[in-house]
Amino acid sequence: MKKIKIGKLEINSYVYIPPMAGVTDLAFRKMIRFFDKETLIATEMVSSKALMYKPDQPLMKLSEDEHPVGIQLFGHELDVMAKAALMAEEKGADFIDINMGCPAPKITKGKDGAALMREPDLAVEIAKSVVNAVKVPVTVKMRLGWDDCQKNAPELAKRLEEIGICAFTVHGRTREQGYTGSADWNAISEVKRVVSVPVFGNGDVRNPFDAHKLLEITGCDGVAIARATMGEPWLSKQINEYLKTGFFSPEPSLEGKIKLALIHLDELINIKGEVVGIRESRRHLINYTKGFPNAAQLRAKIGQVNSRNEAIDLLSGLTKKDFCEIN
Ligand SMILES: Cc1cc2nc3c(=O)[nH]c(=O)nc-3n(C[C@H](O)[C@H](O)[C@H](O)COP(=O)(O)O)c2cc1C
Repeated sequence: MKKIKIGKLEINSYVYIPPMAGVTDLAFRKMIRFFDKETLIATEMVSSKALMYKPDQPLMKLSEDEHPVGIQLFGHELDVMAKAALMAEEKGADFIDINMGCPAPKITKGKDGAALMREPDLAVEIAKSVVNAVKVPVTVKMRLGWDDCQKNAPELAKRLEEIGICAFTVHGRTREQGYTGSADWNAISEVKRVVSVPVFGNGDVRNPFDAHKLLEITGCDGVAIARATMGEPWLSKQINEYLKTGFFSPEPSLEGKIKLALIHLDELINIKGEVVGIRESRRHLINYTKGFPNAAQLRAKIGQVNSRNEAIDLLSGLTKKDFCEIN
C-alpha cells in the first residue's frame, strides 16, 4: 500500500481516529498512543466562535508526545474560522480539520457541521480562508450529503481540493441518516474517484477485516475508525498490522483490559479532577468491559460508581472473583 501524505505531513499508518466529541480527549488519545505511535488522530470538535471568547480551550490542549494530531474546528464565519485555525496551529496541531459532517441539530441549525454541505459556496469560502490562514495542511470531514436527494460529497470534495484541501474523511451516511442504517462504502468510492488527495473511508468499521473490505470496496487510501476504538485502544494497531502483513496481534486478556480501564480512569482524573473524571470515565469503563460475563449487571454497577476507590474495587475485584459473583 502507498504511504499516505497529507500535504507535507507523511503518515506511517493507514488508520485515522477521527474526532468524537466527549471521547477523543487527551486521556483517550494517550490510551491510543500506548499501542500506536503512528496513527493519525484528532481532538474533539472545537467551536471556532467559542475560541474568540475563550482562547484557552482545554479541548485544544495537546501533549508533546502525541503527534501526529489534528485539531478539528467547526463554524461558518470566514474570519472566525481563519483566526481559530491560526490558534490551533499555534497550539501545535499537525493539521486542521474542518467539520462538515456533524448532524446534531444544535450544530446544523446555524450553518455549522453538515449544514455546510447544503451551502457548498460557503463551505468552499470557509475552507479557502482556513487554508490561507495556516501553514499546516487543512483537511475536511464530511458526510455523503445533507439527505438522499442531495448527495453532493464528490462535487464538493472536488471543489475543496482545488482550493487546497489536503485530505478528506468521508462518513458513508447522509446528515439525515444520523447514525442509522449502514454506511454506504460504495458511495464513498465516488469521492475517491474524483480527487487525487488522500481519502479516509469512514463508517461501521469494527475490526481489521472490515477495514480491509472498506479499502477494497472504496479504493480509499486509509480508513477512519471512531466508535469501535472506544474501549479498544489497540484496534488501530491491529488494523495497521493486518493491512501491512495479513496478521494482527491478539487483543489484551480480560486482566489486561481491566488494567487499561484503570489507567484510563486515572488519566481522566489527573486531567479533569475526580468528580468530572469519574463521571466521564463511566462510558469508557463500560466499553473496556464489553463482552465480559454478566456484562449487563456490570454495566449497571459501573453506572453507579462515584469515586476512584469504588471504580478500583469494582474492576480489580473482577480479576479475583468468579465473574458470576460480581454482586
Ligand atoms: C460520540 C461521538 C462523537 C462524535 N463527535 C464528532 C466530532 O466532534 N466531529 C466529527 O467530525 N465527527 C464526530 N463524530 C463522528 C465520527 O467521527 C464518525 O464519523 C462516525 O462515528 C462514523 O464512524 P464509526 O462508524 O467508525 O463510528 C462523533 C461520533 C460519535 C459516536
